[in-house]
Amino acid sequence: MITHRVVLIPGDGIGPEVTDAVKQILTAAAAPIEWVQHEAGMTALAHGKDVLPAETLDAIREHHVALKGPCTTPVGKGFSSINVQLRKKLNLYAAVRPVRSLEGVPTRFSNVDLVIVRENTEGLYSGIENEVTAGVVTSTKVATETACTRIARWAFRYTQQRQRRKVTVFHKANIMKLTDGLFIRCAKQMHEREFPQVGYQELIIDAGCMKMIQDPTQFDVLLLENLYGDVVSDLCAGLVGGLGVVPGANIGEEDAVFEAVHGSAPDIAGKGIANPLALLMSAVMMLNHLSDKRGDSDCREIARRIKTAYDRALADGQKTQDLGGTLGTAQFAQAVIERLKG
Ligand code: NAI
Repeated sequence: MITHRVVLIPGDGIGPEVTDAVKQILTAAAAPIEWVQHEAGMTALAHGKDVLPAETLDAIREHHVALKGPCTTPVGKGFSSINVQLRKKLNLYAAVRPVRSLEGVPTRFSNVDLVIVRENTEGLYSGIENEVTAGVVTSTKVATETACTRIARWAFRYTQQRQRRKVTVFHKANIMKLTDGLFIRCAKQMHEREFPQVGYQELIIDAGCMKMIQDPTQFDVLLLENLYGDVVSDLCAGLVGGLGVVPGANIGEEDAVFEAVHGSAPDIAGKGIANPLALLMSAVMMLNHLSDKRGDSDCREIARRIKTAYDRALADGQKTQDLGGTLGTAQFAQAVIERLKG
């Protein structure tokens, strides 16, 4: 069996609690992972390091795969998001976030199955903000043909490879005619030139959100620029039980960082009640990625066993408080571990 060295960044807030739980489950499943632990975020600052230490970036560049807990970003002041910095510095241009209904987690819709593909490197997250004069500030939205084409190709290829039906672009090109105009033009060209057999739809984002809430089953793969992808990810999480159940991957040509959609949840940090499932699902995506990239079929089989175990735990009513259950983080991890055996 091959052992894969994977960088582990526990992060801030609930990060260490949920990463501990996920590590325990992967160990119990005999996942062939050797963790290389590094810091980032407030935790790194508290230990006298940079908020995104060079050694953390270097380790990801060396090992190519990381599992990351959430990192806190100060609101309205302070350093810029290390999550955004990390994605830009490693050119992790595609954020992919599967959103699925789960048995045992009752919500308004029972058959949601969609995937959000978010452009991760530009848009309004370029961090170009200026005070023009006292009381007047600007933020620059950047769209480049290269990045718009690259994410469109990634979304269509993913849709085709996974035998999904359709890509829907949410945009606001009626108002942002140049930036969002370029985004949809690149997506449409990609559809017409390289993927004419994949379904394609464009929707103005406000109407798109309304349709999403009315009937999410009409959507399949959603392609969005950076800010819209961020907001719509949380909206879609709300359709399937909340932020505790939506995983994610940030993928580039060389490297991939797997992390839940949720943040550091300071309101519940340190209480032992955070749901580790979103990070566990991200770890399952990571094992499948290792299998795809390195031809390691053991990783795919272990991913399948872990998924079966957490599906069974939920179906048996073993849930954390965010899902209406009573279990703490460690108890839920234990419930999953018990179901790995049978
Ligand atoms: P959040 O996602 O941390 O929390 C929103 C709500 O969902 C809170 O009520 C929280 O308790 C709940 N929640 C989130 N994850 C949960 C889990 N696993 N189990 C149970 N409940 C959970 O979003 P918020 O409060 O807006 O942001 C907090 C911090 O996290 C900020 O500093 C923000 O910048 C950062 N953040 C970091 C991200 C990352 O590292 N990728 C992503 C999103 C936010």
